[in-house]
Amino acid sequence: MSAVLSGQAGAPSYVKNRKLIAWVADVVRLTQPARVVWCDGSQAEYDRLCDEMVAAGTLRRLNPAKRPNSYLALSDPGDVARVEDRTFICSEQKEDAGPTNNWMAPGEMRATLKGLFSGCMRGRTMYVVPFSMGPLGSHIAQIGVELSDSPYVVVNMRIMTRMGRPVVELLGTDGEFVPCIHSVGKPLAAGEKDVAWPCNDTKYIVHFPETREIWSYGSGYGGNALLGKKCLALRIASTMGRDQGWLAEHMLIVAVTSPEGRKYHIGAAFPSACGKTNFAMLIPPPAFKGWKVTTIGEDIAWIKPGPDGRLYAINPEAGCFGVAPGTSEKTNHNAMAMLHENVIFTNVALTDDGDVWWEGMGPAPAHLIDWQGRDWTPEDGKAGRKAAHPNARFTVAAQQCPSIDRDWEDPNGVPIDAFMFGGRRSTTVPLVTEARNWVEGVYMAATMGSETTAAQAGAQGVLRRDPFAMLPFCGYNMGDHFGHWISLGEKLAASGSKLPKVFTVNWFRTDEHGKFVWPGFGENMRVLKWIVERVEGGAGGAEHLFGISPRYEDLNWTGLDFARAQYERVTAVDPGDWRKEVAQHGELFARLSPRLPRALQDARAALERRIAA
Ligand code: GTP
Ligand code: SPV
Ligand code: MN
Repeated sequence: MSAVLSGQAGAPSYVKNRKLIAWVADVVRLTQPARVVWCDGSQAEYDRLCDEMVAAGTLRRLNPAKRPNSYLALSDPGDVARVEDRTFICSEQKEDAGPTNNWMAPGEMRATLKGLFSGCMRGRTMYVVPFSMGPLGSHIAQIGVELSDSPYVVVNMRIMTRMGRPVVELLGTDGEFVPCIHSVGKPLAAGEKDVAWPCNDTKYIVHFPETREIWSYGSGYGGNALLGKKCLALRIASTMGRDQGWLAEHMLIVAVTSPEGRKYHIGAAFPSACGKTNFAMLIPPPAFKGWKVTTIGEDIAWIKPGPDGRLYAINPEAGCFGVAPGTSEKTNHNAMAMLHENVIFTNVALTDDGDVWWEGMGPAPAHLIDWQGRDWTPEDGKAGRKAAHPNARFTVAAQQCPSIDRDWEDPNGVPIDAFMFGGRRSTTVPLVTEARNWVEGVYMAATMGSETTAAQAGAQGVLRRDPFAMLPFCGYNMGDHFGHWISLGEKLAASGSKLPKVFTVNWFRTDEHGKFVWPGFGENMRVLKWIVERVEGGAGGAEHLFGISPRYEDLNWTGLDFARAQYERVTAVDPGDWRKEVAQHGELFARLSPRLPRALQDARAALERRIAA
């Protein structure tokens, strides 16, 4: 780690990229940090930054006997999740951002940002964080450089991406990178004491898709601040994919190996906090002897057509930024096993012996420090006060996952056999449905709905359309995204290759008491097995209004007490509910209309006719 004073040229000698050096100098002039530090990505640098943050009160070191090399960060109570209403796609033309994104004219936004960023790093250190999304040097990978005044961001980026000196060396003199500028928006006056979690009430998460730039102001949390993740790997990458014929999706990537040794790869898109991490690390129930599930990714997939006409996916990330509440030995044994050491926890509760706790982990201890640093007892819990914030997270290296697939870093990716789409729906949508063809699959993904979670600031449990689980992450017009999927399918089909099958799932139907009917988690293996058997053309099913679903007798029920009547509750397709559902599809389509592919309009009309019949 090398530090230089602002205004000096001072990049380490291994930095040769002219554009990078000039850009860093420009941003230093604009933001006026007290120091510039070029991050090399070493363990020593990581440890030093953590020590500094412990001294500053940003991190607490957890009990080394319980969680070696692990820390807890408690954020500002106003900075706990992605801020979708403060997220902007500033394309030249408003129509290119589309009706589902916030838009501002680039010129106007640049003027706003210039004002906000002028002197915004005064009194702070600006870190230069070079990172690769995807294995270093993979033809699918992309390089970014984040300039941030948050050391918390630096240590998280080191876990979440391949970060540091090798990335800059790969850039050489003229290599391309995505410039990402981040500030917590809280300059320090001379002698002013810092707070544990600096941030600003004014927040802007801004993307310029044509010039491929990211500017983030005012938040230090998650996807707002770790700019390789949603900003680069989804919003900017999705526009690259549109232009270059590939896909950047909010998908986990999981491999399933049958007892006969046949291996299948599946990309599954579920909205935020709807089970991607859990599904990616699924442990099959005992009845599924010989079946193996391995993890390639748990949040983002970059998918490209290969020379053989199949689609190949990589996980662009190197770590997990996973939801803590609800994670337990029962629901996700693999995630719990990842968390033994080398973890940064954010907004979970602290136990009296220096360990962590969250709702859903197990019985609550008699006393805790909650995510806001206050005393907490189970009495507070009964009164409805949560010890951990519902969007509390852990940051941990993917390599620590016991189910990590041996090919998870294959620079060529893994071949995709099926796509799954699934929202959080308490009613209407059945457990699993197979699309009869590609367009019907795109229709299912396009019209997906989900009840909102704590992953986004704002009300929870509100049903909204979340096409492809990409509503907050598509960097261009959503109608064009649908069109991109349809034309990619047409292109692959024309090349004579077998397209992945498409399925839609819903683990979240509830009963009259609001309880989930489907047991979920490891039991989702029952659905997963049916899916891979359908890929092989094996398992049975029955056709209904909008696709093919397994009959009760088509699933393996060994070891699970789940009666036919319960199955009926999670699979019934009610024409009344579906009339309403399809009307909502119509509202979404009307919003997207000038850019909505004809084929999807036709698919909706056909579905409407089937419901009426
Ligand atoms: P992001 O990281 O926000 O993109 O989310 P994710 O999709 O990875 O979410 P994650 O897997 O962390 O899911 C978090 C929430 O979903 C927790 O509250 C889990 O308990 C719940 N969950 C996961 N799988 C299931 C399931 O099969 N059934 C039910 N009922 N809940 C589930
Ligand atoms: C999500 O909200 O989908 C996440 C967490 O994966 S964040 O990185 O904060 O976006
Ligand atoms: Mn996510």
